[in-house]
Amino acid sequence: SNYSQMKELDTGSATSTIILISGYGTNLQAILDEVANNHLPIQIILILSDNPQAHGIRRAKNAGIPTKIINYHGFNNKADFHLTMEENIKKIDPDLVILAGYMRILSEEFCRQFKGKILNIHPSLLPKFRGLNTYQRVLDSSDEFHGSTVHFVTEELDSGPLVLQYRTKIKTTDDPKQLRKRVQLGEYQIYPMAIRWFAEGFLKMIKGKTVLNGKRISKPKILE
Ligand code: GRF
Repeated sequence: SNYSQMKELDTGSATSTIILISGYGTNLQAILDEVANNHLPIQIILILSDNPQAHGIRRAKNAGIPTKIINYHGFNNKADFHLTMEENIKKIDPDLVILAGYMRILSEEFCRQFKGKILNIHPSLLPKFRGLNTYQRVLDSSDEFHGSTVHFVTEELDSGPLVLQYRTKIKTTDDPKQLRKRVQLGEYQIYPMAIRWFAEGFLKMIKGKTVLNGKRISKPKILE
């Protein structure tokens, strides 16, 4: 099958990866756990944080992975922050950049240069609820489902081609916290899964579209 062929072609070359974080890092942890279990053929070169207080830094250190803090609040000129952050990535020139709860926006120039090499996870069923506060907003709506989406990052915020979604039915008893807990458990499944597809060569972005196992997909895959 295509799958086993691809696997053979790609053996031996781990995808060099940089992960960007800002906070608690539970998605980072899910990725680190999969790497430790040899389920994820990526080599994490560096974990970058814009926030010196991010608990994710501790997780990275515990896993023995180099970390670097580029403190957003240490820059008077925010353009310099973005330049510094992006220069640090460019000089390593990884195969993959993973945004794992990174709360800043990458420059258009950077997104173009790393086109098809940046993945993000956003806590909504994109294209619904781009931006922040998705749990409260979905509960205020009449939607039946909520979830999270892995997507490629392009110049437009939360608008790149969709890859994989976790979807859960909203319960009448849900508050934002309970809903978030459930959705995040789903994130720990879908993010490592999509990263594995990318690292094994099944997942690509071609001409602005998601291509999975050689086929262009117009809708994300859904896990429930
Ligand atoms: C995740 O829920 C993700 O959807 C969003 O930010 C959150 C980060 O949480 N982009 P954590 O830092 O991975 O715990």
